[in-house]
Amino acid sequence: MKLSQRILRIKPSATFAVDAKAKELISQGKDVISFGAGEPDFVSPPAAFKYAQEAMKKGETHYTPTPGIIELRNEICNYYQKNFNLDYKPNQVVVGSGAKPCIYEALAAIVDPGDEVILLAPTWVSYIEQIQLLDGKVTVVYTQDSGFVPLVEKIEEVITDKTVAILLNSPSNPTGMMLDEQTIKSIGELAIKYNLWVIWDEIYEQLVYGEEKHYNCVQVLPELISRTIIINGVSKGYAMTGWRIGYIIGPQEVASKINAFQSHLTSNPCSIAQWAAVGAMRESDEDVEVMRGEFQARRDLICSLLRDMPHITFPEPQGAFYVFVNVQGCVGKSFNGKVIEDDISFCGALLEDLVAVVPGSAFFAPGYIRVSYASSPEVIKEGMRRLKTFLEKLV
Ligand SMILES: Cc1ncc(COP(=O)(O)O)c(C=O)c1O
Repeated sequence: MKLSQRILRIKPSATFAVDAKAKELISQGKDVISFGAGEPDFVSPPAAFKYAQEAMKKGETHYTPTPGIIELRNEICNYYQKNFNLDYKPNQVVVGSGAKPCIYEALAAIVDPGDEVILLAPTWVSYIEQIQLLDGKVTVVYTQDSGFVPLVEKIEEVITDKTVAILLNSPSNPTGMMLDEQTIKSIGELAIKYNLWVIWDEIYEQLVYGEEKHYNCVQVLPELISRTIIINGVSKGYAMTGWRIGYIIGPQEVASKINAFQSHLTSNPCSIAQWAAVGAMRESDEDVEVMRGEFQARRDLICSLLRDMPHITFPEPQGAFYVFVNVQGCVGKSFNGKVIEDDISFCGALLEDLVAVVPGSAFFAPGYIRVSYASSPEVIKEGMRRLKTFLEKLV
């Protein structure tokens, strides 16, 4: 039977694929350690359970307004006021079933067929697929040669009269790097000069380490407010991936269009999960801080172990829970008689030594691997011991 060109173009999520492969091997009794997953291993905060249970007891099991219950949208506005000094109103917020569909809805609101969206590589897999699903074109600006710091001149060079948006993600999946205040300002000024939308994905903003400070782009450059669609959610910072609550904040006009779009797609996100998110946002600051501290300790642990390994380099991540490791020094070497040709064959060979990581090619960054450190220190130590042994075996 015929399938659409649009659907035939989709590649499955490489990160989910690695995790699925690792789980399959585990189910066959193999002792695989997976650094593939993009989710915290912590249990969601107690307040999320409390509010969800109360919601069930009260019978909050019906459709809610499409953009989410007012209590949650108020909570989101309070959060942006408190943390970024930004004054958004509930009618500028649409809560969706995770940040991922929110990004798709935001893109759908601004991309026509043939329109171009700028992504800074390395970049998250789903952006690429979502833009293509909308028959938009991805324009990639590589940042590998400048230490993952985007050069504004390089961005300006690729802007055409078809460019409608630039999509920014800080802290970044997959590199863990963050955009500094000056870079945000310069890119924002470019967006104003060329009349572009900014899609600003800050889903990892709570997970920032050491002296680093996360800035929201509208906080840095208030003039961006009329052209910025913020993406955030409770998945990462509150360890609530399974509840599927993300949100969009933007100009009222675009929020209302996204609301209309969502009303034909999913309607509201799960009513009980919305209440869980209210609980998390109201009462879990301390839990978030504990998890952040734990992630910081894990980052320090994994970086200290990686520094002691041959053939690889990496920048120390400033946020999120990924290290993006350059494995180009392994290309051309052999493992058990097989030549490592690229990051994909590197990941295949490493899986034989029972460690799963995601190839950088999936993020427009061949020659790298993404290692997620959202696992316990014991798992990190054992996985890194295996990785080190693997690297030492390469000839
Ligand atoms: C950069 C980025 N944005 C958005 C998401 C989606 O988050 P959610 O699980 O809420 O859909 C992810 C999840 O991996 C992500 O890495």
